[in-house]
Amino acid sequence: MTHTRSPRIVISGSGLWTPAESITNDELVNSYNAWAAKFNTDHAAAVAAGQIEEKPMSSARFIEKASGIKARHVYTRDGILDINRMRPKIPERGEDDISHQAEIAVLAARQAMEAAGKTAADIDAVIVSCAYTQRAYPAIAIEVQNVLGIEGFGFDMLMACSAATFGLHRAYDSLMAGSASCVLAVNPELVTPQVNYCDRDSHFIFGDVSTAVIMERAETAAASALPFEVLGTKALTRFSSSIRSNFGYMSRAADTDPYGWDKLFHQAGRKVFEEVSPIAAAHIRDHLASLGIRPEEVRRFWLHQANLNMNKRVIRELMGKDLDADLAPMILDTYGNTASAGSIVAFHLYNADLQPGDIGVICSFGAGYSAGSLVVRKR
Ligand SMILES: CC(C)(COP(=O)(O)OP(=O)(O)OC[C@H]1O[C@@H](n2cnc3c(N)ncnc32)[C@H](O)[C@@H]1OP(=O)(O)O)[C@@H](O)C(=O)NCCC(=O)NCCS
Repeated sequence: MTHTRSPRIVISGSGLWTPAESITNDELVNSYNAWAAKFNTDHAAAVAAGQIEEKPMSSARFIEKASGIKARHVYTRDGILDINRMRPKIPERGEDDISHQAEIAVLAARQAMEAAGKTAADIDAVIVSCAYTQRAYPAIAIEVQNVLGIEGFGFDMLMACSAATFGLHRAYDSLMAGSASCVLAVNPELVTPQVNYCDRDSHFIFGDVSTAVIMERAETAAASALPFEVLGTKALTRFSSSIRSNFGYMSRAADTDPYGWDKLFHQAGRKVFEEVSPIAAAHIRDHLASLGIRPEEVRRFWLHQANLNMNKRVIRELMGKDLDADLAPMILDTYGNTASAGSIVAFHLYNADLQPGDIGVICSFGAGYSAGSLVVRKR
């Protein structure tokens, strides 16, 4: 369903927390290849007997060419490159300490609040939306709300790579309905614990980041705030098992390995590429058409950051021309795929040059399948 405006809703601030640490393709590939070589040596007899398959080698050149990713920021490098571990090492915190995910949510949230000129007293709803939450309850959003001193309510929501736009969709609906007057929507994408660093096809994809957006009614927005009016939001889902993470609380009851490969991120990457790109392009075209806007009238697309070639294809299908950095800026090269936060990172970093009246599209797409978009206009 597409909404038309009245009352007017604006994005009045955004925030971005980027981890200080980063891992290059070369570092990741060197580690994976050393792990794979050791695996193959250790299992030489089983491989020779045809009982298991030899682990294939990874290539930094392939990764950059196939995805556009050169490096990714990570919450911690500790453990990821250790071939005897192959996963990050993030010590558990006590129940009275701030959780890792709430901490990075707050770091982005404070920036967004400052950009929008808001204090805790101005905000009455907190949405934490991301691909994974580190626990079932209490909700990370309530922890964030508590740390920031916000009254009202908070809740977590999961929608994989479209969590950020779907969260903003919820924020928009709440503001339209009047159940909230100023919403803080945060995306603490702490994804690296779910990456299978022993899987050549996916070990390079993800990075960690945290983003935040303040959305409110136009009449309460500060004059100095980021002035993007939301012209409409649109969400779409279509079931697919081609991208999955089966991690969950049922493992204990199912007597399965809670760390098995299927519990981690896995996908049929080429299939996803082929199926999701046209869904994303059609979704954006339909959304714009519902608002009476032609794709050529869009000044900037802040697209989901999963694959450069995918975004090239979306732009070609929509605009009939090549993607360029001015039309659809990419942050994938240094951030990697940051799950749902990618389009918000691009929006946060690349909106200052837009002129009043310029139209932009924030759009995410991915697992589910799902696609979520916001059409905005600079005021
Ligand atoms: C994952 C992705 C980068 C792979 O790129 P691709 O061009 O589709 O590559 P393919 O999967 O077709 O693989 C091509 C070959 O490279 C191999 N390959 C895969 N990973 C490799 C690696 N790290 N190093 C070297 N070769 C690799 C494959 O095994 C395959 O070999 P084959 O031809 O012998 O079978 C790409 O499919 C993608 O990004 N898909 C969309 C992902 C997405 O949006 N996911 C949603 C999560 S938000």
